[in-house]
Amino acid sequence: MPLFIEQLKRSHPCAALRASDEGKQVVLFGWVATRRDHGGVMFVDLRDREGITQIVFNPELNEKIHELAKDLRSEYVLGIQGKVRLRPPGMSNAKLPTGEIEVYVEDFEVFNKSKTPPFPIENDTDVNEELRLKYRYLDLRRPVLAKNLILRHQVMQIARNYLSENHFLEIETPFLGKSTPEGARDYLVPSRVHPGKFFALPQSPQLFKQILMVSGFDRYMQIVRCFRDEDLRADRQPEFTQIDLEMSFVSQDDVLKVMEGLIVKVWKEVGGVELKAPFPRMTYDEAMDRYGLDAPDTRFGLELKNISSVFANTSFKVFANILSKKGIIKAIKIEDGAKLSRSEIDEFEKFASVYGAKGLAWIKVLENEWQSPIVKFFSDAEKADLSKLLDMKVGDIVFFVADKPKVVNDALGNLREHLAAKLKRIDESKLNFLWIVDFPMFEYSEEEKRLTAVHHPFTSARPSDLPLLDSEPLKAKANAYDLVLNGNEIGGGSIRIHSMEVQQKVFSLLGIGEEEAREKFGFLLEALEFGAPPHGGLAFGLDRLIMLLTGAASIRDVIAFPKTQKAVCQMTEAPSEVSAKQLLELGIKVNKQI
Ligand code: AMO
Ligand code: AMP
Repeated sequence: MPLFIEQLKRSHPCAALRASDEGKQVVLFGWVATRRDHGGVMFVDLRDREGITQIVFNPELNEKIHELAKDLRSEYVLGIQGKVRLRPPGMSNAKLPTGEIEVYVEDFEVFNKSKTPPFPIENDTDVNEELRLKYRYLDLRRPVLAKNLILRHQVMQIARNYLSENHFLEIETPFLGKSTPEGARDYLVPSRVHPGKFFALPQSPQLFKQILMVSGFDRYMQIVRCFRDEDLRADRQPEFTQIDLEMSFVSQDDVLKVMEGLIVKVWKEVGGVELKAPFPRMTYDEAMDRYGLDAPDTRFGLELKNISSVFANTSFKVFANILSKKGIIKAIKIEDGAKLSRSEIDEFEKFASVYGAKGLAWIKVLENEWQSPIVKFFSDAEKADLSKLLDMKVGDIVFFVADKPKVVNDALGNLREHLAAKLKRIDESKLNFLWIVDFPMFEYSEEEKRLTAVHHPFTSARPSDLPLLDSEPLKAKANAYDLVLNGNEIGGGSIRIHSMEVQQKVFSLLGIGEEEAREKFGFLLEALEFGAPPHGGLAFGLDRLIMLLTGAASIRDVIAFPKTQKAVCQMTEAPSEVSAKQLLELGIKVNKQI
């Protein structure tokens, strides 16, 4: 028997063989995916990261080898040598790229046995995700996950090549840095050399890339890990990857154009789809008005309609109260929705309440009446105006929420997407790329009782809105843009402030005093005084991009070793306690009561 590895080199990966390879002697390495004993002849699907080849142990061909093969079990890892044959007529498998052939094994070696895996290694699985993450190395043998990681690799190569061709330089920036305010909590790293002091892992390389512009590297790119301690969702991880970019001497249009070029190339090369650029643009105000969200899914209608004007003089107390306190009333009409049951409506009301809605009023338009818990409070004129404004027809249902604008938009905007999914009104074949532009510079945080930056504090105002920074900062629009795909924010950026004075003013509007600004961002303010060029950029969320390209349900399915929703690594059990010695060296005392 030859010793594989020492004497035989792999000739093909498991997905490569075709009918044209008939008669070739091949050497394959892989894992036993399935093993079927067909009374004498034994078939094994041999799997590697690319796919599967059916291998055959035939006692007539080689009695000894066939006998040895009886000990093979799932996930044993083997090397085999054999001859490619066409499968007999009628036996080919159109679902497999290698489905027309099989390899008759002449010799093989078991490199290692395997315990019975804790779950079957198959694409379709209903195994609990925590178990899959604990045994991630087995989970990653599932072809669907392997495919996701291969595609992720391809996208990274395309991005690097495209950006390099467009004169971007790949430059690395530190992980051990100073906190930058991207809106989440920082992950901190204690310094042993400077007890009591901490590095912050970057929420993004925002300030370093701006400093690189000051240094004259006028096109920068990096595929970079970012760290944010925030509540996790299906599209959020505590560490995630950005395709991060910055450019000097550019306008907003220049940035969007380069980015569109990258997206078009990615979808063409890995998705086989020819996208049309430029992508449509929508202002933030229009998105909020029509969809209630700043990352709207435009694949379906069900738009929000402001109906406050109908109830300007209403005697219905709930609405009158809300309108008198600068609240609004918005509605969603669903054609053919009157057949929704009470329990379905109750479920939608519960859904809206998660976003702060105090109720979800509704009207079913029936043949001879409006069925509704609240129309009895409406005047005839209000009913007529409402019907006209919403173009209500028999069979429709209308939902509405009255509250502060933020609550109304949040509740109805999210309900709209929930309704569309539940009622199957989404055309899944669409790829709706959309730039959201003209974001406001600031929003008012009720919690913190101060202005906060909608994008980040380094974002510039539209030149025409600069005077508003002094008079009405909440009205000032930013040179900021997000790229949205089917309701997912896949990238965001802005043209930055490159004047020290303006940057200082924005800090002070955000409640960051001069001293605090010097202490936290002194290096930036100083750099802005040494010939900082006009600049701007953007960062794509690589994980989200891959999730949408592959149709994965969660970004965890496109990351090799993701964290769970509770921000732990199930496989290594990180985070974990550290030794008393390590803590002592760092001068850290742990208070477990927190
Ligand atoms: P922003 O904070 O908008 O901008 O992030 C850019 C993109 O990164 C993705 N993203 C995430 N993906 C997974 N998990 C997370 N927790 C997560 N948070 C963000 C999103 C988002 O659009 N420095 C700026 C960019 C710039 O101005 O150039 C920034 O980080 O897809
Ligand atoms: P109530 O009088 O609280 O029983 O409410 C009557 C109906 O009005 C119910 O269908 C509630 O869901 C709805 N409702 C109450 N408050 C609001 C609100 N702020 N916005 C929309 N609907 C509401």
